[in-house]
Amino acid sequence: MVFHLDVGPCDGHPVRRGQRTLARVSRMRPRGLHRLWLMGLLLAGPALAEDTRQLATLPLPAQETLRQEMLNNLIALNEILTLVATDKLKEAGAIAEQQLGLSAQGRHRDKPFEARPGPHMPPAMHALGMEGHRAASEFAKAAQAGERDRAQALLPNLTGACVNCHASWRIR
Ligand code: HEC
Repeated sequence: MVFHLDVGPCDGHPVRRGQRTLARVSRMRPRGLHRLWLMGLLLAGPALAEDTRQLATLPLPAQETLRQEMLNNLIALNEILTLVATDKLKEAGAIAEQQLGLSAQGRHRDKPFEARPGPHMPPAMHALGMEGHRAASEFAKAAQAGERDRAQALLPNLTGACVNCHASWRIR
């Protein structure tokens, strides 16, 4: 009697019904189990892919400018690494200063306001950008002076600046 109260209204064969379900699962063909597994993975997907970076809301034209600048940053970085690897320090320094250093600041000054990324960045994000320019200029100075050991020691600061910002900010 108590048993019946616990399971609520039933057809009088709760145990047998449960057994039938179990039997059905164990008879499932591998493909069926596969589907279950896939479904679980899909459900877990959004939780795994959670993006913890902060969102900086930039107007669309500023987003476009930023992304173009980023692609150029990557090209510049690759050139710098290649030049350092082949001991062309002066050239590496020149590119670092022009493309990534303090000299590269303000290059969007003549664009319409909504196409300039800088003024739309939250101060903390902007500060990371500034840090990157400073790191590039510091490297550039050492490289252009032919200070090989110092330039090499400063090189990771260049990539470090990219990583620092990418790790904490997104624009979409
Ligand atoms: C001040 C922050 C900041 C710094 C510093 C920075 N980035 Fe970015 N970068 C971003 C943001 C924000 C995005 C866009 C992320 C998104 O799509 O939400 C981005 C995107 C990119 C992309 C992808 C562009 C595309 O087509 O979507 C590349 C490549 C890139 N950055 C390279 C670099 C390199 C190389 C450096 C260092 C030399 C660098 N970035 C430094 C903020 C930064």
